[in-house]
Amino acid sequence: MVMERFRVVGGGRLSGDVRVTGAKNSVLKLMAAALLAEGTTVLEDVPDILDTAIMAELLRRLGCTVEHDRGRSSVSITVPAMPGHEADYDLVRRMRASICVLGPLLARCGQVSVARPGGDNIGSRPLDMHISGLQRLGATIETEHGNILASAPQGLAGATIWLDFPSVGATENILMAAVLAKGLTVIDNAAREPEIVDLCEMLASMGASISGAGTSTLEVEGVESLRPTRHVSVPDRIVAGTWAYAAAMTRGDVTVRNGRPEHLEIALDKLVTAGAQVERVLATDEAEGGFRVVMDRRPKAVDVVTLPFPGFATDLLPMVLAINSVAEGAAMVTENVFEARFMFVDELARLGADVRTDGHHCVVRGRQRLSGAPVTAHDIRAGAGLVVAGLVADGVTTVADAYHVDRGYPGFADQLQALGVEVTREPDPDALLAGE
Ligand code: EPU
Repeated sequence: MVMERFRVVGGGRLSGDVRVTGAKNSVLKLMAAALLAEGTTVLEDVPDILDTAIMAELLRRLGCTVEHDRGRSSVSITVPAMPGHEADYDLVRRMRASICVLGPLLARCGQVSVARPGGDNIGSRPLDMHISGLQRLGATIETEHGNILASAPQGLAGATIWLDFPSVGATENILMAAVLAKGLTVIDNAAREPEIVDLCEMLASMGASISGAGTSTLEVEGVESLRPTRHVSVPDRIVAGTWAYAAAMTRGDVTVRNGRPEHLEIALDKLVTAGAQVERVLATDEAEGGFRVVMDRRPKAVDVVTLPFPGFATDLLPMVLAINSVAEGAAMVTENVFEARFMFVDELARLGADVRTDGHHCVVRGRQRLSGAPVTAHDIRAGAGLVVAGLVADGVTTVADAYHVDRGYPGFADQLQALGVEVTREPDPDALLAGE
């Protein structure tokens, strides 16, 4: 495989319209939820990214037929009467979100074996809440030879589950198991992300009985069986937020079509504090609605604390560090969700940013400009943040390991070019030298 990198020419300004597709972090779970019903489920507005391709492959290995119609951005998943129940390490290691098949397969098959994902570049990411939640529903769970083996031969039974932290993944796995459990399940301190609401809506359209979506308490009354459905994914708020920050940072003017400002309230409010104008754009007969971000001055530094929704999203941390690195003044940015997100800071420092971390706090002192350099993407969001930071750096910035960005941003370089800046992809000569 030829490794690619982004080549970013600094100094451009983003201007124009861009559309966001359905959210990666919703679609992956919606694809897993399709396992809950025999027959054909169709998902719409599915992004054409690496992670949806990996999830499609995982479902195929479980015996499903999966067709991705790229022209229509839809994925159709035909699930057999009894899907397979093993998810191997070769796919799980490529995408840890594969773990979201644990709940639905346990509910459907009464047993499941999913490889345990290791740590990754944003933190250690344990699974204790997924496991204890499913145990509360009556599952027996062991880890053997690197696999999580769960079984519930008599079926699952509703229970009350208190999560220590509103984990997105644990809430989803427990929810997807509880919809087919006997009786009432209450998930307290549940995650409230728009992607959870989207999953609840899809499950309801399959016949599940769920109340409290979008609040900290989810109540699920189990049903005997579910039916396949057709569902349009919620738009990607992290990609929308990336465009908003990139527009503000480059003193641009960008309309984000299909972006939902109500899913980005704090993030957009921070941009207003930084000096941007942000307005909702209503849909017309010709164009989808969304929001517009205009910035005509150097941004002012903004303090940010990441928290579960509706707090400031951890996935936008690289964007807020990047904007602060060229802002007027100094800011304190605090990361509360993933301990290793600040790996990004060392790459940003290579671009000349004045950044200093202490534990989960980072102080950023704004500079007039950054200075282009070769840097490396360590995860999806860090990669996108470095490309965007390269736009406010003098000269050329190259961002190695572009494949990370491909996991979450469909056609990122093409979309940036359409907004008027010079971002291309090229083979990475250093990676070739290293024999990759
Ligand atoms: N945690 C535990 N135990 C558990 C589960 C989670 O300690 O059993 C901890 C994690 O280690 C972390 C915190 O709880 O410190 C939050 O983790 P959460 O479970 O909420 O995150 P996730 O489900 O693993 C999803 C997204 C992430 C996003 C987070 C937070 C997907 C596929 N991933 O991860 O997205 O950052 O929620 O919003 O939905 C990305 O898209 O780049 C990405 C990393």
